Amino acid sequence: MILVSRHLEPPSSTPEPTRHLPVLLPETIAALAPERGGLFVDATVGGGGHAEALLEAGPEIRLIALDRDAQAVTRSRTRLERFGERVQFLHAPFSAIGSLLGSGDRGRVAGLLADLGLSSDQLDDRHRGFSFQQDGPLDMRMDRSAQKTSAAVLLAHASEDEIEEWLSEYGEERFSRRLAHAIVHQRRFGPLLRTSQLADLVARTIPRGRAGIHPATRTFQALRIAVNRELGELESLLDQAPALLAPDGRLALISFHSLEDRRVKEAFRAEVKSGRSADLLPGGVRASDAETRANPRARSARLRAIRRVSAEPA
Ligand SMILES: C[S@@+](CC[C@H](N)C(=O)[O-])C[C@H]1O[C@@H](n2cnc3c(N)ncnc32)[C@H](O)[C@@H]1O
Repeated sequence: MILVSRHLEPPSSTPEPTRHLPVLLPETIAALAPERGGLFVDATVGGGGHAEALLEAGPEIRLIALDRDAQAVTRSRTRLERFGERVQFLHAPFSAIGSLLGSGDRGRVAGLLADLGLSSDQLDDRHRGFSFQQDGPLDMRMDRSAQKTSAAVLLAHASEDEIEEWLSEYGEERFSRRLAHAIVHQRRFGPLLRTSQLADLVARTIPRGRAGIHPATRTFQALRIAVNRELGELESLLDQAPALLAPDGRLALISFHSLEDRRVKEAFRAEVKSGRSADLLPGGVRASDAETRANPRARSARLRAIRRVSAEPA
């Protein structure tokens, strides 16, 4: 365990300005309608792009901005400094949202946004270990202070069945069994500590997929979801968020793959069926061709939003 942990590099203290482009920006701001004023929550502040647009479009709003990644909090704090006390920053996972809001704020939220997954700042920083395109430590933790288990540690200790299940369920990887076997076999020769070691292992083990898609894409997605327990985080947010909304409060979620979108769609459908909320964007909204050309990351994004119509408790 000690040996495997040594692959981690210390976090850099002053992060670079953000490189992240917010996706579906005008559509998200329109759905959240910050011009109404009130308390807003950005549960995934990241580089602060959506938050900044909310604060500009809603001069009367107060914003609670949180992120699980301490660097994102530092970075967005700098970007949003000019809004002064209108913004409160929290370094926390959004699964804690219910307990983070004071009792006076629960049931009073005018708008809550979660823009799921990773930012470009995280993906492009090779020291974070999220990308198979650059060599770095096999880390992948969003919160390097609270989370103890990096991807390397997870792979060093998991059983072949567990690895197979993550690859198949979170990566929708057709060759999950073959890959899980290869990973466990590789452990006999030493731990997998670098992103390049894992990417090479995947490339040696399974055939190349569709043109342009690296064979390690699904493996890296699966591991990242497992390391950060992303689906459990999302389910917890979806359980808590409706009860935090005020009447006419809006809840907007941007997802990037079907595992996330399915959960959002089902939770929103149940809210609408209960009569407490109305669907603001039936079927969700996808990025335009122009946005996708300017920001390829927007290609898989889907925005869904509901509006609280009843004052009954959720
Ligand atoms: C796509 S980025 C958000 C970008 C942001 N909307 C912007 O305009 O810059 C996703 C962010 O969510 C954060 N995140 C992911 N899961 C989280 C969770 N469970 N709790 C809190 N933050 C989370 C990530 O650390 C990342 O900074």
